[in-house]
Amino acid sequence: MKRTASSRAWLQRQASDCFVRQAQKEGYRCRAAYKLLELAQNCGFLREAHVVVDLGAAPGGWSQVLAQQCPRVPAPLLIAVDPLPFPPIAGVVSLCGKIEEESTALAIDAVLQGRKVDVVLSDMAPNTMGRASVDHLRSVSLVEAAYDFACQHLASGGHFVAKLFLGGTESSLVTSMKQHFRTVRYVKPQASRSESREIYLVSQGFRG
Ligand SMILES: C[S@@+](CC[C@H](N)C(=O)[O-])C[C@H]1O[C@@H](n2cnc3c(N)ncnc32)[C@H](O)[C@@H]1O
Repeated sequence: MKRTASSRAWLQRQASDCFVRQAQKEGYRCRAAYKLLELAQNCGFLREAHVVVDLGAAPGGWSQVLAQQCPRVPAPLLIAVDPLPFPPIAGVVSLCGKIEEESTALAIDAVLQGRKVDVVLSDMAPNTMGRASVDHLRSVSLVEAAYDFACQHLASGGHFVAKLFLGGTESSLVTSMKQHFRTVRYVKPQASRSESREIYLVSQGFRG
């Protein structure tokens, strides 16, 4: 099969990427796992996380980290959501669907059974077009959907972490987040490629 120039470049980048090699060695499904490991280590939001919703979870790297790092007593409730199916992870409930769809919200509520959520994570990413402004706007809309979900489901004091492709129109969203959380920070973990406009908004201490 003939490869395009961009798929050749992707394969070369994967082969030379230390986080890809580390993920293969340590059994993570993707290099993204190291982003969550670093964010959680530096910001501490998984230390008392018993109920966690992982939005944009496929292929499951972040959910693997959750299954390892969340306290085991009492048994955590970990819910992974993505329109793409992925192989099961022990201790994680996987739901197939987009977060904006009502059927997905109902499926999550059926699993939660009224329990409040300690941490909402969103590593959701739009299908990128290669046009930074369009990718940015789609990314903001995914963060807004995740933020709506977080505001409806977080326990008081809970945390919300969301991937965003920076681009300039996020300021009103961030202003709203600052009103609802004690702290909101922009964090770029080492595993996030330097050439990417991706950052993580780490919002801690939900005011309810
Ligand atoms: C970068 S990947 C996530 C990687 C994941 N955190 C991991 O560690 O394996 C982004 C994911 O966001 C998902 N996604 C995009 N739009 C979504 C939406 N509206 N609702 C839920 N998931 C979405 C995509 O299907 C894709 O699997």
